[in-house]
Parts: sequence; C-alpha cells; structure tokens
Amino acid sequence: MAIGALMMLAVILLLAFVKGTSEILLSIIAFLGVSAVVIGAGMALGWRISKASFGAKEAQITFDDHQYYEESAAIADLTTKKVLDEEVEEDRRNYAADKNVPGRNAGAFDILRDRLHFRSFPIGHRMAPMYLLDKNFRVVDWNLAFSLAFEHTMEGRRGVSVLEWTYYLDNYEEVLDHGVAAFSDPENFPDVDVENIRYMNDRYGVVEAVKRAYKIRDDNGIDILGWLIIMELSFPEIPKRLQFNEDLIRLLGVDDLWTEYAASYDRLLPRTSVYNELLDEMLGATGGLDEIADGARVLDLGAGTGNISYRLASEAKGRMIIAVDNNTAMLEILKAKCTAHLREDDEHAGVIPIKQDITTLFGIQEQSFDYAILNNVLYSVSDPVSCLKETFNVLRPGGEIRISGPKKDTDLDALFDRIKSDLKAVGLYDKLKRDFDHVLAINNLRLTPFLHRWDMNDLEKMLEDAGFSEITYRSEDVYAGQAQIIGARK
Ligand SMILES: C[S@@+](CC[C@H](N)C(=O)[O-])C[C@H]1O[C@@H](n2cnc3c(N)ncnc32)[C@H](O)[C@@H]1O
Repeated sequence: MAIGALMMLAVILLLAFVKGTSEILLSIIAFLGVSAVVIGAGMALGWRISKASFGAKEAQITFDDHQYYEESAAIADLTTKKVLDEEVEEDRRNYAADKNVPGRNAGAFDILRDRLHFRSFPIGHRMAPMYLLDKNFRVVDWNLAFSLAFEHTMEGRRGVSVLEWTYYLDNYEEVLDHGVAAFSDPENFPDVDVENIRYMNDRYGVVEAVKRAYKIRDDNGIDILGWLIIMELSFPEIPKRLQFNEDLIRLLGVDDLWTEYAASYDRLLPRTSVYNELLDEMLGATGGLDEIADGARVLDLGAGTGNISYRLASEAKGRMIIAVDNNTAMLEILKAKCTAHLREDDEHAGVIPIKQDITTLFGIQEQSFDYAILNNVLYSVSDPVSCLKETFNVLRPGGEIRISGPKKDTDLDALFDRIKSDLKAVGLYDKLKRDFDHVLAINNLRLTPFLHRWDMNDLEKMLEDAGFSEITYRSEDVYAGQAQIIGARK
C-alpha cells in the first residue's frame, strides 16, 4: 500500500512539473483523495483478512471438540453386547457335546493363580482384533478392536474355554470341526493355525476374517504357554469397513485418554489436600464411613495409579488388596508406587494388580471380598450396572461397596480453583502448572461427556438394581463440594 502511494505521489509531481505550478494545488488535493481511497481499501482488505483468520481461530476453539468427544463416548453404547438366541446356543452346545474339544477338561479357572502363566503379554497391532488363550485354550485377554468387531462377545468370558465364544460365529460348525482336527494331538500342535471365520455384526454387517493362531512358547522354547490369535478382517460392504475404522479410532481415543491422564494426575492430585480429604472420607478416616477393617480383603476397582491401594497397604494393617484397572499406563505407576507391597498370591497382606475391565470380574472368586472401592471411576464406565452386579457377586454377604464420583451439577471450575489454591498453599503450583493445565484440559474436553450423569437418587437406584440392600452412607459435599459418595452393603 505504501509503495502504491509513493508511486502515485511520483506521478503527481511529474504532472505538476509538466503542467505548471498553478495546477499543483489541484494535484495535491487529488493525491490526498486517491490516497484516502487506497488506504481505505487497504484497511478494509486487512480487516477482512484478520477477520477471516480470527474466524478460523474461533472455529478452532468451538470446532465442536466437545461434540466430537461426546460422540466418541457414545460409541461404546452403540455397540452393545450381542445376545445369542437360546435355541441356537443349545444346538451349538449339542454339536460340540461328543467331540474331543481341545482344553475341555481343564480345571476351574482362578484369576489369582492362572493369570501368572503370562508375565508379559505378546500383542498385535491395536487396529487388528486379537485375543490371547492360555495353554488350555481358555480366554486370557482381548483388545478393543476385538470387542468392537465381535460386539463384546468375549466380555465376561475370561478364563472360559474359547469354545464358548465360537458359538457366536456364523460358520460355527466348520470352525469347531477344524479346531478338533487341528488340535487333537497335543504332541503335534501346529506352530500357526489358519482358518476363516464369519460373524454378523449389527452395526457393520457381515464381518469376515482370516484368523491366525500363533503358538507361544515360554522362554525355554519347549513348553507351550498359550496362543495369540490375530484377525485379518474384511467387510464385504466397504462403507461399513470405513465406519468400523472410524469407530475404533474413537474408542481407542477414549482409552488413550487414561494413558495421557496417568502421569499428570498422579503428579498433581496426591499433593492436594482436597484429593487426600476425599481418600480419607472413602477410607473411613473422617468418621462418616467406618474405617476399612484390619485384615480386610479389598477390591480397588479402577485403581488408577494406586493411591487408595497404597494407603490401605502402607498402613500395615494386614489388608489384602486386589487393584483392578484396564489401563496399563495406570497400572505401571501403581506397581512402582506399591513396589514394597506387591504380592502374587492372596495368602498374605499386600497388593495384587490385575489388568481387567471392571464390568466383568470373571475369575475373581465370588463372595470373597469385604469391601469394593470405586473412587472416581464408575462415572466413566460404559456399562455401570453390569459393573455393580459383578461387584455384588464378588462381595461376601455383608460386604460393602463405596463409590465416589461427580454429580449432575458438578462445577469443574470450582474444583480446579480449589486444586490450584491447595497447590499454591504448599508452593507447588508453578512447578506443576503444566500438569494442572493438562489435567484440566482433559477434564474439560474429554471427561465432560461423562461427568454429569447421576445424582444421589440415580446411584441409589443403580445399587438397588444390582442387589444391594442397605445404604450405609451418603454425602454430596466432598471434593470441594463437587463430588458425592455413597456406601451400600450387600
Ligand atoms: C479418574 S481415574 C481414578 C483412579 C483411582 N481410583 C484414584 O482414585 O486415583 C479412573 C480410572 O478408572 C479406570 N477405568 C475406567 N474404566 C474402566 C473399566 N471399564 N475397567 C477398568 N478400569 C477402568 C481408568 O483406567 C482410570 O485408571
């Protein structure tokens, strides 16, 4: 713009020189007029450009990230667990009845013992469905891609013969015959077994897969530890394949949020009094709920980085704690924190970490726990009623469940103001500002879709539906007034 004005001035001066000084005044007026137009146009253009970029910035902020994460949170609900028609299941069981099904006679499964067969799990790519079997063809673990492609049909089957899962396959008979033939001779198991399977998924239509089962040997290379099964999927309908991939990426994002959360929240919250007061309240140190008894067997469900487990174990009161979480990043921190208390059997006091989804507690002995604690967990679980029912089953009669979590009117700003002032009070805010911002951002953006689900009445109703009879405690004024606690007895 400045160059244009200078050029214009040069032209006018040239004209004035040619036409004589009498016309100079006129030329200057013309120059000022033209300049005003040019500058005005330039400003208008500049304003438009800055408005456009401001608009883009604005769009970035409000691009509905919230909506995106709300949709992601809802995907888990879109893909509900498939229920097999009873008659079909009966027919399929009968078909297997007189066959030599591999692993059929394996003893009863107990997660505290049988899980020890695997010290570290071999894994496949997380976009490819996979599951892991022990040497007796019992289900040990599976991934999210598998749950999505096969509609949660493996959930609740940990420790069960994989035969129970094959009932869901459309080409079940073919698969069973193949399995019996390929695995009938334990001396000659194949190194890799390949077959085709077919499954009808409500959301994605026909799902076909080449299923490869790889033999896993232990470190001496002789004994068989188990089998890693990886599926190569194909969908006859291409749009369904795209839909599957998009859904899976979003589901993995929900899982990753806990991975991202782990280190920051663990550096932050245990240093605040507001969080420690919540733990005090949950563990009965403030007089509301009874103190967790000495020698108690406790399930810490959604144990995260182990703050509850650590407190219970480090008080040296002979408690045996099973810490269950399905996020490995969380469990790694928990193991480091509880190193001095880690145990592999439940005969002695200490902490046993288990990677498992808390909506299916299969393999955890029924009626064997005195307490189950869910601190800030249930709100994020896609199937809370199933989680509560499973918890009910593993508590002994008279055992108690304690749940804390957000309320319908939880105000994150109020909570984070308190966290900030707690950190400032101990001189840690500046040092932990990045963690503070990170934890706040995850809460604001990615946990918000889960935060405002229930009030106290909703929790009571869910507990009743799960079978709990007596409410032992209620408080709606914990965690800077932004959380609620409920206790109930079996
Ligand atoms: C906000 S953290 C709370 C952790 C811990 N209870 C505490 O007080 O610090 C929630 C935890 O629940 C776990 N979680 C969420 N859904 C789960 C599920 N379905 N099965 C197992 N763990 C789950 C997450 O991995 C995460 O570690």
